[in-house]
Parts: sequence; structure tokens; C-alpha cells
Amino acid sequence: MKGLVFVELLAMAEGAFGEDVVDGVIDRSDLPSGGAYTNVGNYPCEELMTLVRGFSQHSGIAGPELQRLFGHWMMNSFVRHYPDFFVGRNGSLDMLAAIEDEIHVEVRKLYPDADLPHFDVQRPDQDTMQMTYRSPRPLADFCHGLIEGCVTHFGETAVIDRTDRSTHDNTEADFNIRIGPAA
Ligand code: HEM
Repeated sequence: MKGLVFVELLAMAEGAFGEDVVDGVIDRSDLPSGGAYTNVGNYPCEELMTLVRGFSQHSGIAGPELQRLFGHWMMNSFVRHYPDFFVGRNGSLDMLAAIEDEIHVEVRKLYPDADLPHFDVQRPDQDTMQMTYRSPRPLADFCHGLIEGCVTHFGETAVIDRTDRSTHDNTEADFNIRIGPAA
């Protein structure tokens, strides 16, 4: 995983729990990287999971919920750091439809060693999308948060139903997203 993901997780945790907690969780986690991440470096996803577990234990917020909150945070970070990806999109479903064939394709050009998931998308009508997420990494909750963050970014509301079909070495989830009245 790119270091920028770790840098953002630590930034979120620092804002929520404070610097001392972040330092303590890093110290106790015994991470191969030592917890010193650079945006362009590459680190094992297990370190991310270890950090999420550490913050979960500290806060009492369950791991999946923390991943989801992190997805919201990360979407805001994408909006800040990569605003061009959001320009000209007519709404969250247009944005989500563009991840696999446009956005993550550009991400791969910026970061050839990025670990990206795979999406299959169907749009039966203008306000409905079925999206299947597949990844060797256990990040369906993070993805859920990114999708929610994306809907919020476009000032929309949505009902998001999710069906998990993960096995121990492959994460798979179907998201059914129905856009509702404007927020
Ligand atoms: C709503 C839109 C998006 C969704 C749902 C989404 C989904 C995801 C997910 C779930 C991951 C984690 C990797 C995995 O699960 O295997 C990921 C990684 C990533 N995405 Fe996206 N993404 C979105 C938009 C963007 C945008 C706008 C950018 C802009 C730069 C971006 C850049 C990245 C990067 C850099 C990574 C990390 C790659 C790595 O760790 O090596 N994504 N994305």
C-alpha cells in the first residue's frame, strides 16, 4: 500500500485521539517500518490493519467502523489533493462509474506500484448503481466509507445496501447504491 494511505490514517487518528495515543499505538505495534511513512513509499497492508486494530482497542470503536470513518476522511483528502478528478462529474454515481477505467488508471500512472482494487459497475438507471468490489486486501469497509464520502461530497443522499462475499484471501462485496433526494 502506498504510504499516503498510512499518512492519512495517522493524521485522522492524531486529530481524533491525539499525538500521544498515535505514538503509543505505533510503539506497541512493533511495525516492520517503525511507523515512519512517506507518501510515495510502499508498505505492507498488514501494517495498516495492525494500526486500525490499535486505534480500535484504544477508542472502543470497532475496526470495521473505523475503516469506514477512515474512508470518509480519505475521500476528503482526495478532494483536497486531487481536485481535478472531481471536475466535470455530474454526481457521485458518475464519479464512482469512473474509478475503474479512468481514476485508478491515472493513479496507476502516478504510482505504478499502487495496490488498487477491481470494480465492476452496472447502472440500471440514472439513480441506481450496482458495484462489485474485489481486492486481495480486507478493505471493503474502507471502500464503503469512500463511497459514502463520495455521495456526501456531491451533496447527495443515498441508500447503500451491501452484500459481503469474502473468502479468507479475497475480499468481495456488492454495493447497491440508490440516490435519494438532495441533502
Ligand atoms: C469514490 C471513489 C473511490 C473509491 C470507491 C476508491 C476505492 C479505493 C479502495 C477501496 C482502495 C484501497 C485498495 C484496495 O481496496 O485494494 C483505493 C486505493 C487507492 N485509491 Fe481509490 N477510490 C476512489 C477514488 C480515488 C481517487 C479520486 C483517487 C485520487 C488520487 C484515488 C487514489 C487511490 C490511491 C492512491 C490508492 C492507494 C493505492 C495503494 O495503496 O497502493 N482513489 N481506492
